[in-house]
Amino acid sequence: MLNTLFKGIAAAAVGLVLAVPPALAQQAVKIGVVAEFSGPFADYGTQIVNGMKTYLKLHGETFGGRKVEIVQRDTTGPAPEVAKRLAQELITRDKVDILAGFGLTPNALAVAPISAEAKKAMVIMNAATSVITTRSPYIVRLSHTLPQDTQPIAQWALKNGIKRAYTLVSDYGPGVDSEVQFVKTFKGGGGEIIDSVRTPLQNPDFAPYLQRIKDSKPDAIFVFLPPGSQTIAFIKGYEERGLKQSGVKLIATGDLTDDGVLEAMGDGTLGLITSFHYSAAHDSPENKLFVKTYAEVNGTKYRPNFMACAGYDGMAAIAEALKKTGGATDADKFLAALKGMKLVSPRGPIMIDPETRDIVQTVYIREVKKVNGQLYNIEFDKFENVKDPGK
Ligand code: PHB
Repeated sequence: MLNTLFKGIAAAAVGLVLAVPPALAQQAVKIGVVAEFSGPFADYGTQIVNGMKTYLKLHGETFGGRKVEIVQRDTTGPAPEVAKRLAQELITRDKVDILAGFGLTPNALAVAPISAEAKKAMVIMNAATSVITTRSPYIVRLSHTLPQDTQPIAQWALKNGIKRAYTLVSDYGPGVDSEVQFVKTFKGGGGEIIDSVRTPLQNPDFAPYLQRIKDSKPDAIFVFLPPGSQTIAFIKGYEERGLKQSGVKLIATGDLTDDGVLEAMGDGTLGLITSFHYSAAHDSPENKLFVKTYAEVNGTKYRPNFMACAGYDGMAAIAEALKKTGGATDADKFLAALKGMKLVSPRGPIMIDPETRDIVQTVYIREVKKVNGQLYNIEFDKFENVKDPGK
């Protein structure tokens, strides 16, 4: 009897916690997406939002009793001051509940202190420099980190006869992170690093670097470049300068063979080996549904890439957290709901590390191959439960 009474009280209490107060239920949860929607990095924001919309198409738009609404703002490229102003305006004027998006590291780093001060959850859907999550206790990352994606390809290189390597990376956060991790793992496993160069984030000219690399005759070049016009230019230069022909292997994180850019890079990418957390060709029912729905929602101009997948998963994490908090977006409650969360992503199983708020995931080794006349990253090996080794 007492037991039944107690159960009744407990059930009522649960009901109270989960019930959405009527005033709150009427208001949409506003998600302020700060990302790149114009300029050379315009695809970053587009892919992220396309991924978020794909999630909403499959799962509806109401979670924990509240509808979600996306408010988009364009940083126009790597523009920390613009990103900061946009985030401030989103919070004070548009009254957003959650910040999200962030293709490029400098934009994420600029907004992190605002998330901390204003106590707003900030969901990173690409920016992949390791340190970002340490800059606000309210950041969670649903994408990747460069050290996480780099370590496996360094291990693969050591096992596959590559003894002398040269590194070339973009000269900013994620590039530096990938260089540091590659050198650490490769040298640690007995490999030799001939030299390391860093190229400008905007408009790099690869010709002089490629000539120097060719002259030093490494077994392989390890590369990190942000995908888009510069990865296309790099592949072209690698072929035109005769590096491929002279037997210098090219290895990279999958940023180089981004699904969204791969077809534009052409057959020069065939046979490239990369390590990465997402491939549009990933063979799972979740990914097949994601790719199909993405095309239904966004058309076929873009093939979903890793940023689209992180947009989808970021939206999934927000939706699941809203269900747990009964629609509340108070940063402390919201973060508590996110920490330790496990999801089945189109990329495979993922988890938000409760200590670092960073993603734990499988990193795959892939080779570019032609499937039905189109270039794809075909996975052939994997490392499971990879945490960010950069922290
Ligand atoms: C970043 O700026 O953090 C970034 C950009 C593109 C990538 C990965 C990381 O592919």
